[in-house]
Amino acid sequence: MHIYDYLIVGAGLFGSVFARELTDAGFKCLIIDKRPHTGGNVYTEKREGIDVHMYGPHIFHTSDDRIWAYVNRFTKFNHYVNRPKVYYKGKIYSFPINLFTLYQLYGVKTPAEAQKKLEEVKVPIKNPKNLEEWVLSQVGQEIYEIFIKGYTMKQWMCDPKELPTFIIRRLPIRLTFDDNYFNDCYQGIPVEGYTKMMERLQAGIEVRLNTDYFANKEYFDGTARKVVFTGKIDEFFGYRFGELEYRTLRFEHEMHKGDYQGNAIINYTEYEIPYTRICEHKHFTFGQQEHTIITKEYPEAWSRGKEPYYPINNERNNKIYKQYATLSEELKDKYIFGGRLAEYKYYDMHQVIGSALAKAKKEIEFQKSTCS
Ligand code: FDA
Repeated sequence: MHIYDYLIVGAGLFGSVFARELTDAGFKCLIIDKRPHTGGNVYTEKREGIDVHMYGPHIFHTSDDRIWAYVNRFTKFNHYVNRPKVYYKGKIYSFPINLFTLYQLYGVKTPAEAQKKLEEVKVPIKNPKNLEEWVLSQVGQEIYEIFIKGYTMKQWMCDPKELPTFIIRRLPIRLTFDDNYFNDCYQGIPVEGYTKMMERLQAGIEVRLNTDYFANKEYFDGTARKVVFTGKIDEFFGYRFGELEYRTLRFEHEMHKGDYQGNAIINYTEYEIPYTRICEHKHFTFGQQEHTIITKEYPEAWSRGKEPYYPINNERNNKIYKQYATLSEELKDKYIFGGRLAEYKYYDMHQVIGSALAKAKKEIEFQKSTCS
């Protein structure tokens, strides 16, 4: 006899949205998470009155009216707009690259002057064979050195000459003074932090933390009619087709007096500085505190046991993932797989919410059809 209709493995956005929808449709859900806190990677922790983004900076953005209305049911958003800066060899540059950046670099003041300059600085390479050649052919040596080379070497831990061109499919350069990182209609940060938003999303649903599904899989499978799994798909299948690879990060938090850098995010692009960015959390909420908390983000080589942040969707990994995905199809009567780890896919927050809403809707329709 099942106690729950659905066991949801993972208290991140996918699991929580799915649980909300199924609960509201009248089904009984249990959410478990192996971490000691809820929210998955969007988790924020209140430290000295500041919401610290514990798994890297999270800025909510979407152009989808339905998703924006949905998240606004659970939190109010402020008017934060992401305008990161780049630090390179003692200078600060406007970023993403826009007319002001090109003014800083070349003194050009109009879109026409900037366009002409970009044509001049491009390196003529007919068939770029790697990332370095491709970027040089698009924007020339100086922009490549300042914005791409060192940063990419740190992130991918190899020379850009060894990387395929598809890693940077597009190099957005704006010939206007618009330095808003995102192009979406809606953007902001939950005024009370993401954790409050997640708690409201989970209101009335049983949540058990510090609970690893794999520590007692048989027991948990027996508690519910269906299992929604949002953890690592290769782990679910005992790594039988091989291990999927990720890029991982190490976060170092520091407390300082006053205002450390005057902006929420500054990217450090030179190779010699080991971190890729510093996030100063109080700027996400326009905090006026006399102290501040910053986080330095260091890329690290991934191995099992470390936090899997970014999937590496190369040929090898995609092939392995496909085998797991095929296997998961065969189990669809009992298991639903969703979210960034189970689908081995980078999802922004609005995208993972959209995916969870779609899968929940399909499941509710399926349940209705089997009852009637
Ligand atoms: P998520 O990882 O959040 O949840 C899965 C949960 O399952 C975890 O809590 C995990 O502990 C749990 N779990 C796994 N295995 C388990 C087991 N065996 N037993 C129990 N529990 C288990 N997006 C955006 O829109 N704007 C942004 O600015 C950013 N910024 C950003 C920065 C960084 C550094 C990263 C890596 C990602 C972003 N994102 C982002 C993306 C965002 O983090 C992402 O969309 C969501 O966290 C995905 O939610 P999921 O529920 O899929 O995974």
